[in-house]
Amino acid sequence: MEPTRVLFVCLGNICRSPMAEGIFRKLIKERGLENAFEVDSAGTGPWHAGEPMDPRTETVLKRHGAYFEHRARQIRPEDFQHYDLILAADREVERDLVRLAGPFRDKVHLITEPWGQGEINDPWEGDLWLFEQTYLELADLVEKWLERLWPENDEAGRAP
Ligand code: 4NP
Repeated sequence: MEPTRVLFVCLGNICRSPMAEGIFRKLIKERGLENAFEVDSAGTGPWHAGEPMDPRTETVLKRHGAYFEHRARQIRPEDFQHYDLILAADREVERDLVRLAGPFRDKVHLITEPWGQGEINDPWEGDLWLFEQTYLELADLVEKWLERLWPENDEAGRAP
């Protein structure tokens, strides 16, 4: 079976989207679903391409056992064809993605969209506490998305 391909997107790809990717990776590993999904993250901006994640993101992900090796990258035109679900951290990112997505715009969603919880703001100018809060918000949302994509209590193990 083809994996479901999920792409998390923020502005710089050093804080929010790598956090979401790390959480998703941790959850699918815990649930034995690594072959069912392909996951990556990207930024709409070019500034940090090639850099590792922000050290505060690294600290928080390590604290939660969700760290992975990461290099930031900017979103590419072919991402819109390749990924099935493209989740934007905030409305500005969502707007830029919709503009870039062309015929694939229906794949783009604000990460909070199904639950109407606003958006995930950029913690970049905050302290470690703010990064931890961002992690906790994302952990809740990412788990809910995974539950939608692969309900744990579905007997066939697969969303209808
Ligand atoms: P992120 O945070 O979008 O969550 O990775 C940011 C990191 C850097 C910048 C903006 C947002 N920046 O402008 O460099």
